[in-house]
Amino acid sequence: MATKIILNGEAVTLDVADDTPLLWAIRDHAGLTGTKFGCGIGMCGACTVHINGRATRSCITPVSDVAGTSVTTIEGLGGDGSHPLQDAWVKAQAPQCGYCQSGQIMQAATLLQDFPNPTDEQINEVMSGNLCRCMAYVRIREAIHLASD
Ligand code: FES
Repeated sequence: MATKIILNGEAVTLDVADDTPLLWAIRDHAGLTGTKFGCGIGMCGACTVHINGRATRSCITPVSDVAGTSVTTIEGLGGDGSHPLQDAWVKAQAPQCGYCQSGQIMQAATLLQDFPNPTDEQINEVMSGNLCRCMAYVRIREAIHLASD
């Protein structure tokens, strides 16, 4: 059955089975490939998107669970331009391989909603579930501080 959502501000109908993970509905059916597949079991954070403004793991979220909600992906985070976090990411040269970074930024956006000027400890705690195999954590933390200034 088709699922209707607001995706990056536009009404879309995702014509996929109810149990399709939101990640694959976004990537394969909506064609937005900025959201990444890492583990598929909710453990790495690469697939993080916002559902009604909160960071959520799209790989373990059946698309039918988000019917009627507002879903934001990395492509829509900044609206028509770039989000301050994306600018800070560039300034701090946070990524190495880059694969996990869209999930990192989506999680960081939720962090800044809760802690507009976060401490290192708050960053470490909220971001601890978003894994980076390049170990770019120090630069990611720096970028979050830049965006919060
Ligand atoms: Fe979703 Fe790893 S791909 S948490």
